[in-house]
Amino acid sequence: MPKIVFVQPDGRRQIVDAPVGQSLMEAATQNLVPGIVGECGGSCSCATCHVYIDEPWFSQLTPADEMEAGMLEGAVAPGPHSRLGCQVPVTDALDGLVAHVPPGQ
Ligand code: FES
Repeated sequence: MPKIVFVQPDGRRQIVDAPVGQSLMEAATQNLVPGIVGECGGSCSCATCHVYIDEPWFSQLTPADEMEAGMLEGAVAPGPHSRLGCQVPVTDALDGLVAHVPPGQ
């Protein structure tokens, strides 16, 4: 099963098992990763699942669609590697993906 690494702003790391097909948000909330709430349940309307995704994984993802990009504009401290975790499904190719929780989220 792919492993996803969530990193807190203070550098604390949490490695979780994420079944293929689950979203990064679901993997985070099911493992109680602080700072990732998933308030809207994954319907791309809250941005409480915002993360920064490291390379090389970021470039492998299907780019954010218009709705996700719009939500990211209103997210906490958006950056060039921002994604909504609920819009990123886990695949085998993403094993080891590193996702950073934005400071203050
Ligand atoms: Fe609400 Fe991702 S869980 S936008």
